[in-house]
Amino acid sequence: MKIILGVSASIAIYKSCDIARQLTKEGVQVTVVMTPTASTWISPVILSALSNNPVYVSDTDHGGSMAHIDLRKKADLLLVAPASADIISMAAVGAAPNLLATLLLSFEGQKWMAPSMNPAMYAHPAVKANIQKIKGYGYQVIPPDTGEAVCGDSGEGKMASVEHIVKEILANIKKI
Ligand SMILES: Cc1cc2nc3c(=O)[nH]c(=O)nc-3n(C[C@H](O)[C@H](O)[C@H](O)COP(=O)(O)O)c2cc1C
Repeated sequence: MKIILGVSASIAIYKSCDIARQLTKEGVQVTVVMTPTASTWISPVILSALSNNPVYVSDTDHGGSMAHIDLRKKADLLLVAPASADIISMAAVGAAPNLLATLLLSFEGQKWMAPSMNPAMYAHPAVKANIQKIKGYGYQVIPPDTGEAVCGDSGEGKMASVEHIVKEILANIKKI
């Protein structure tokens, strides 16, 4: 079982460490791909240690030249957790300004997103429309939880729990 864990720049980024760790402990081979902004928030060194694998941020990392092509063949499932409003919008319009966004276009296996953002952002019609759009492209979306966000605002938007995300991914990867 192999997955790509996409990590974007949301406040819930610290939970990606637990996701990488728990999936790895369950025997899943996890390759982490971070957006450039995410890679400045949490060092790729940490996610590399937790996943026992090199972490990718750009196409030319680790001596390669086209990671968006090489990596697409090396996983059964791609999960973006946390998924920022930004990476969701890129998936919705097919924009490819970085490796993770490009991989979202080149990867042909199951694609999952776990949105994470401020409740007002999550309630915005543009975000709602983008989520509907990516569902239409075949993405599975793990709905965020309702509660108090780190910023103090309450409502729907905080990322689903790590336990829930890991359970969903393990259940679905076994079906592949
Ligand atoms: C401290 C901080 C926390 C943020 N949290 C979120 C968040 O939870 N969700 C979100 O969509 N954007 C959040 N943003 C804004 C994103 O980081 C910003 O849109 C960024 O361009 C996303 O980049 P990426 O999608 O390429 O990783 C936050 C910004 C800061 C400075």
